[in-house]
Amino acid sequence: MPADAPRLLLLGCGAFGRVHLAALAALGLAPRVLGFDPDPAAATAARAAFPWLRLAAGLEAGLAACDAVILATPVPTHAALAATVLRAGRDLFLEKPAVERAEEARALLRLAAERGRIVQVGLYFRSHPKARALRALIAEGAFGRLHWLAGRFSGLKRARGDSGALLNDAVHFADLLPWLAGAPVARVFAQLADPLGRGREDLAVLQLRFADGALGLIEAGCVLPGRWPDAVVPGAETRKEIAVAGSAALAEVDFAAETFRLRRGRHRPAAGGAFVPEHAPAETVAAPAAGPVQVVAAELAAFLDCLAARRAPEADLRAGALLPALVLDAARRSAQEGRAVAVEEA
Ligand SMILES: NC(=O)c1ccc[n+]([C@@H]2O[C@H](COP(=O)([O-])OP(=O)(O)OC[C@H]3O[C@@H](n4cnc5c(N)ncnc54)[C@H](O)[C@@H]3O)[C@@H](O)[C@H]2O)c1
Repeated sequence: MPADAPRLLLLGCGAFGRVHLAALAALGLAPRVLGFDPDPAAATAARAAFPWLRLAAGLEAGLAACDAVILATPVPTHAALAATVLRAGRDLFLEKPAVERAEEARALLRLAAERGRIVQVGLYFRSHPKARALRALIAEGAFGRLHWLAGRFSGLKRARGDSGALLNDAVHFADLLPWLAGAPVARVFAQLADPLGRGREDLAVLQLRFADGALGLIEAGCVLPGRWPDAVVPGAETRKEIAVAGSAALAEVDFAAETFRLRRGRHRPAAGGAFVPEHAPAETVAAPAAGPVQVVAAELAAFLDCLAARRAPEADLRAGALLPALVLDAARRSAQEGRAVAVEEA
């Protein structure tokens, strides 16, 4: 740990807050960390798992004693707590979904600019080695022209009390797919359903058209068959997988199974106007497996680098909060109006 490592305040010591604590310990930052959670049971559980954890007496005391905040609280608290952190002049690592609506992202953007603060959104998959390897292959042209990017973030798991499938699940791939494509989502046609009758969309299907013409699909929800044990939620069964296709290659990445299959090749013209696939056998792309603690440690290490250099993170408020929120806002509008909707300009 560098002697001048920033002092960090973790707000929210619940399930994912504890993943952050494990990641902070792995980075050797435990002595620089304070935690705060208004729920005594959550604070006690965090102390039991991480006996080194020092707890702040309250939000104000915690803010006074830190340089930067990690915010891992329920979704509806994000916008107000993030604004409090920025007004206090602290940098911020803000867990996904950063906000519930794009207008909250715009307000945070203005505040962060006014206060000269660095904000990184916790978009887990951007730091997964398999997503990074796929993005590098796309960027070097291995896929040719992309025509398809699809993601399934679904399974059989608890419906979170604070959000439905859009903010909890779809947000991951509403960010990841355009990040991979290097092109924003231009239009969305979405269908949402409330299969549990609890007033939230626990099932979401989003058809996308990217600005460069590629098509996309996101399936999200907690009421579908899962395939693998979830690495974050004990007892849940999950699918976290993406498929990408272009004129020169096809790929499937399964984050839960930690597999990455690539097929290079093209369709070639054949007799009678047909085009036939001429693809090599599947190859396995070598990209390491990574569990939640490793991925979050990579996210936090990148955040700390940005703080040290006073540089904007890749997943800053514009890229990590506003752009995905605009896609999800368009999805809600599309589902309500029963038509495809253009994603608003950032
Ligand atoms: N990146 C990922 O893959 C990933 C995975 C899981 C959760 N998350 C995100 O992490 C966040 C937290 O999720 P979770 O599963 O840990 O939820 P959780 O309900 O288990 O924990 C949230 C904790 O925040 C505490 N809290 C509430 N108000 C607070 C306040 N004002 N100050 C401090 N603490 C407060 C609660 O008491 C609770 O202990 C959510 O935004 C969620 O979307 C991200």
